[in-house]
Amino acid sequence: MERRHLFAANWKMHKTVDEAVHYFQEFEQLIHSKSAADIYIAPSFTSLYPLAQLAKNSSLVIGAQNMSDFEEGAFTGEISAKMLVEAGAKFVILGHSERRRLYNEDNSLINRKIHLAMQNNLEVLLCVGETSEERFSGKTNQIIEKQLDECLHDVNVKSLTLAYEPVWAIGNGHAATPGDAEDVHRFIRDWLASKWEGMSQKTRILYGGSVNAKNAADFLKEKDIDGLLVGSASLNPKSFSEIVNLG
Ligand code: PGA
Repeated sequence: MERRHLFAANWKMHKTVDEAVHYFQEFEQLIHSKSAADIYIAPSFTSLYPLAQLAKNSSLVIGAQNMSDFEEGAFTGEISAKMLVEAGAKFVILGHSERRRLYNEDNSLINRKIHLAMQNNLEVLLCVGETSEERFSGKTNQIIEKQLDECLHDVNVKSLTLAYEPVWAIGNGHAATPGDAEDVHRFIRDWLASKWEGMSQKTRILYGGSVNAKNAADFLKEKDIDGLLVGSASLNPKSFSEIVNLG
């Protein structure tokens, strides 16, 4: 089955509203209008609404980097799925390793967020990935399987996007080799096949971790890599456009 490539920008805690709007305008000029790929941008919460307004007249899709695991209530500083949808978000990144590591998010919390996101018709972009110790001790597949099992527990999956992001490859310039990434992508696709008939071939699995304009094309050559989740190299409209223009 043909899966359209998907390129997602994770801006993390970068860019004010003003910077985000300027980026968007410049980026739109740089991308090939005939590109068959989907392009997602996850800005900060404060930039969601203005970018979603701009995106109405473009093919770009705006989404969030996180959300609360509660519907509403006394949760100071949190943001709900409903608020994200109202601001114009179409997807939400969940399970990012920075959320897991720095904010102690575990698989069961991520599972609650996934349920809520899906109830609110937000497309889920679920990140999984192993640490360097886990890789060196030969536990990569075991860890990925546990994350998938627990994060997607009891979820009635009809549509989903996954990202394999080895923790040791994020933000440091040391990407996985395309071959090593492909091995894990194939493992994830087999896992999907064992859980939901039909999901395995239609689900897009992105690679993320030190992707840049130089190494992006090599990842896309792999059979089970359907796109890229890009952090640092997405902060500059020129370098992100070079990646998405690969198609
Ligand atoms: P990076 O980040 O491209 O800067 O490694 C990727 C991510 O965290 O999603």
